[in-house]
Order: sequence, then structure tokens, then C-alpha cells
Amino acid sequence: MSTAKHVAIIMDGNGRWAKQRGLPRAMGHKRGVEAVRALVRAVARLDLDCLTLYAFSSENWKRPEDEVDDLMNLMRRFIKSDLPEFIANDVRLKIIGDWQGLAPDIVKMLEDALEQTAGGSRTLAVALNYGSQQEIARAAAKAAAIGDVTTASIAAHLDTNDLPQLDLLIRTSGEVRLSNFLLWQAAYAEMLFVDTLWPDFTPEHLEQALRDFAQRERRYGGR
Ligand code: IPE
Ligand code: IPE
Ligand code: MG
Repeated sequence: MSTAKHVAIIMDGNGRWAKQRGLPRAMGHKRGVEAVRALVRAVARLDLDCLTLYAFSSENWKRPEDEVDDLMNLMRRFIKSDLPEFIANDVRLKIIGDWQGLAPDIVKMLEDALEQTAGGSRTLAVALNYGSQQEIARAAAKAAAIGDVTTASIAAHLDTNDLPQLDLLIRTSGEVRLSNFLLWQAAYAEMLFVDTLWPDFTPEHLEQALRDFAQRERRYGGR
């Protein structure tokens, strides 16, 4: 039986959650943040070394401006309200994606948060303005610049270079696609697609996912 140490989640379904209730999409995103908070609180109890969450993709800029604004404002509020808890709970914040391309005040908040949580022993990695193909292209360009285009060198230049191997990738909301998330890192990850909409996803759902993972046999091409 194996245990998952690094779990990544495509947090999808906020909009449909709100729609089902006749609420504005913004409410779905707000409840989605609460689901994130509950999960981060469970990281130590579930003994995860790393939890990676897909919060905003490089393609999400295509959404209407007011929805993008709502998401950015939620991000601002979340960092401000939850940073003390990260520090208290020994959680190291890590950001993957082109986060330097976000609004300057968010970049500043993130830089402060990264610095203040640098000593944490468990990692919460948040994918912001993240696109996996872009990440791979950036890493390949760096590998080429040093004349070492090998899988090891590309991996060493990915945003995730200091994270453990990805064990389990979960997507909520019933969609069965990766939407440009961790394409390289998922090469041998186990995958789990659940129908639960993100705001309804609880630590108990994650526990169930970890039990499911424990039953899987990973072969990495061997036998
Ligand atoms: C996930 O929920 C949140 C983000 C992508 C930022 P969605 O907003 O994609 O919700 P659905 O897929 O429309 O239900
Ligand atoms: C993926 O969800 C991105 C995040 C969860 C942040 P989307 O809702 O953007 O993906 P598609 O458009 O359904 O593929
Ligand atoms: Mg979606």
C-alpha cells in the first residue's frame, strides 16, 4: 500500500455550484475559497508534503472582466486573511505559473507571503496565471540556453523543481480533462475525476481519494 505525499487538484465547478442555487458566480468562487481553507487546514493531519491547487489558469483571462476582478479580489483577501494561519501551521507557500504577470499589488503580497512562509515544512503550491505548456516552453528555453536539453534538465527548470514527485491528480466537477495543468509532472501520476463540484469538496473527500490512491498499483512501465 502506498501513501500519496503530493496531491494536486484542479478545483473546478464553482460556476455550476452557484448556478444550481440561482446565485451569482462570484458566490461560487467565494465558497470555493472556503473549500480551499478547509483543505489547507487538513494537510498536516493527512500527512501530505505538498498540496498543489490550480487557482487561475493562463486561459482564465478569457473570462469576462468582472469575473476576473472577482477572482483577483478573492485572492487578495485570501492571502491577507490566511497568511497568519499558514505561518502558525508551518505551511510554506509556493506559487507556480507566471505570477509576476499579475497586478503589482498582488505580486507584492505574494512576495511577502513567500518570504514569511519560507521556513514551513509542508507546502501549499498555488498555480496562478499558470499554463503547463508555457511552463514547459520556459523550462526548455532555459535548458537550451545551458546546452543541456535532457528530461532531467527540463524538469530542473520547471516551476515545480523543488516539489516532490506528483502522486495523485484530482479534478472535481465531472470534467475529464487536464486544461493545461501539470502536463509534464503528471506523466506517472494517478488520476481521479470526481463529480463533486469544488465548493462541496471537503477534507473527507480528499481522505477518500487518498484511500483510493492507496489501492492503486503503480508500475511506471515496469512489471
Ligand atoms: C473553477 O470554477 C474556478 C476557476 C476556474 C477559477 P469555474 O468557474 O470554472 O466553474 P464552472 O466550471 O464554470 O462550473
Ligand atoms: C481549469 O478550469 C482551471 C482552474 C481550475 C483554475 P477551467 O474551468 O478553466 O477549465 P475548462 O475551461 O473547463 O477546460
Ligand atoms: Mg470550470
